[in-house]
Amino acid sequence: MERADAKKRIEALRGLLRESNRRYYVENAPTLSDYEFDQFMHELEALEAEWPEFDAPDSPTHRVGSDISGEFVQRAHRYPMLSLGNTYNIGEIEEFAARADRLLDRNFSYCCELKFDGTAICLNYRNGKLFRALTRGDGEKGDDVTRNVRMIANIPHSLKGDYPEDLEIRGEILMPYRAFEALNAEREADGDAPFANPRNAASGSLKLTDPQEVAHRGLWCTLYHIPAESVAFATHDEALRKAAEWGLPVSEDRRLCRDIAEIKAFIDHWDTARRELPYATDGIVIKINESDCQRALGYTAKSPRWAVAFKFKAEQACTPVLSIDYQVGRTGAVTPVANLEPVLLAGTVVKRATLNNSDQMELLDIRIGDSVYVEKGGEIIPKITGVNLGKRPADAVKPDFPKTCPDCGTPLVRDEGEARWFCPNQDGCPMQIKGRLLHFTTRKAMDILAGEVTVEQLYDCGLARTPADLYDLRKQQLVCLEGWQERSAQRFLDSLERSREVPFERVLYALGIRHVGETKARALARHFGSIDALQTATAEQMQEAGEIGGVIAASVREYLDKPQHQREIERLRAHGLQFSAAGSTKNLSQALEGKSIVISGNFSIPREAMKELIAAHGGKNSSSISARTAFLLAGSRPGPEKRKKCEQLGIPVYDEDTFRSMLPDDRAAHSPSEEQLTLF
Ligand code: IVH
Repeated sequence: MERADAKKRIEALRGLLRESNRRYYVENAPTLSDYEFDQFMHELEALEAEWPEFDAPDSPTHRVGSDISGEFVQRAHRYPMLSLGNTYNIGEIEEFAARADRLLDRNFSYCCELKFDGTAICLNYRNGKLFRALTRGDGEKGDDVTRNVRMIANIPHSLKGDYPEDLEIRGEILMPYRAFEALNAEREADGDAPFANPRNAASGSLKLTDPQEVAHRGLWCTLYHIPAESVAFATHDEALRKAAEWGLPVSEDRRLCRDIAEIKAFIDHWDTARRELPYATDGIVIKINESDCQRALGYTAKSPRWAVAFKFKAEQACTPVLSIDYQVGRTGAVTPVANLEPVLLAGTVVKRATLNNSDQMELLDIRIGDSVYVEKGGEIIPKITGVNLGKRPADAVKPDFPKTCPDCGTPLVRDEGEARWFCPNQDGCPMQIKGRLLHFTTRKAMDILAGEVTVEQLYDCGLARTPADLYDLRKQQLVCLEGWQERSAQRFLDSLERSREVPFERVLYALGIRHVGETKARALARHFGSIDALQTATAEQMQEAGEIGGVIAASVREYLDKPQHQREIERLRAHGLQFSAAGSTKNLSQALEGKSIVISGNFSIPREAMKELIAAHGGKNSSSISARTAFLLAGSRPGPEKRKKCEQLGIPVYDEDTFRSMLPDDRAAHSPSEEQLTLF
């Protein structure tokens, strides 16, 4: 390659890799497959080695990709958090072992481990208590995600046994496949873009701003590295054994190997055995086990010289595309789905694969008749990652993304910044109407005994267009329908009756507001307490409920502003559905039992809703401060008189955040409790 061409290629690769790093680590929506990314990185490494005059310290080859999002406080790492050199080529693992043999003048062993495919985390325990958790960030400083990490079930808040006073330990936050599938199913049903893989879902979830939501994501942690500067051990294996004794989650799937043959056997074993694991792994990490040998080998700017990763290529199958369907969801989003010649992939037969959106179809330049590569990353529906152009038949047909709704014929629209096309005919598109009815009846929503067939039937007979219509149905109407009997009609009506007790948060979810999935509905219901409080809230106020961003708030506002939705809510309310948290469960908890509470100032929800919330948790609202007052709940601009009186009587004053942390669902986020209490 000519000098000028090399320079141009180096610059192009750096641009590409920087952008891919941002998409991968910050947006959790990668544009390249891991394999492609690694190939481009290796190409850049090779070019920089060949043309050292073009090498630069800020090249992606010398820096770890940064996950800093700007949403969290950043803190410096005590010891830099590095990456690992990686290869897909077993020959390079042999070279790694040969180099170690050459450079080390004593006997040593290798500790081989799984390479967990999640997002890196650094935990710090002080005096046995979980004190801080930082993401890798840019390797020098990371995002402080301590509150979120405290919500991860298998991370202990306290250590046991003879733990050191100050411990730094690193590992990976993972999202097991099952949690990932459930999350993506929910996101797709709500009209949100699904996460591309469990890794992105784990890292996106770790960066949520509401710890309560993190608790619902089913994250998992595995720890694999104690920096030698933190606590000194003779070997890495001993460090991990100790960590397990202190109660920390450490994988037992590691093995000490004496030579390359044993390393290869470990790799071969896990190449297939990893398919049985409940979470994603993407390779094997080979570490020199003895700490003095690690010290002797040292580090490059980006990774240790005493460890290397052997990466597995994602399993792929190649099969022809028979046709493409365009599915209309209840939110109107149109998703292209390819029908494939059935093919065996990682133990299951694949017949369909999602193409996500029209951009992806363009990017792949897919044609009907093409042979495509399908990959599975733990997703329910596999995805198409590429086209085998060498196998393109002469008569392959370029598919036309429909301009009109495949169901109702309305011209499709695509808003700015939106990757998908939508059918805007919300009130008239049969697929959307039926989709919304079906959503309303699902188990996570109102749990009404009606599947796809029933919904289709009720819609076709003109008996149901909106959820409120379901509550108008009479037994005489149902028994006239094909396949219905007295008993099935009664069971259906009984399930409708029971649904009147379904709590407000699920009713809100059942309404099917775009972007409002189970978790967002829960956050809104808990924050506002009732549909009336939500109805009077501005989009800005909605954003004060955890996890509710601008797009979601705007969508809720738009929904609630529509007269037909207001009428629908009133009809459902008249049928006895729960539109307030206090009404549905009377008592949400006993957390404030026996406490007399005075409120003052403005809150993120109307004052009346705040009083309802206090009552729902067993508290008593009181208008004046006395010696019996448990605390003053002070919003913005609280009355100075009340504050002064509290000072005189020694009564605590809590802000809204602190108050919310006292309620059961927020409590765990704030342990150890004193840390978050804000006394004026
Ligand atoms: S050791 C100083 N061990 O892989 C070396 N890393 O691609 C510290 N990873 O940033 C890392 N499994 O997030 C180590 N068993 C394992 C690992 C592992 C996954 C991740 C880690 C690292 C990345 C490099």
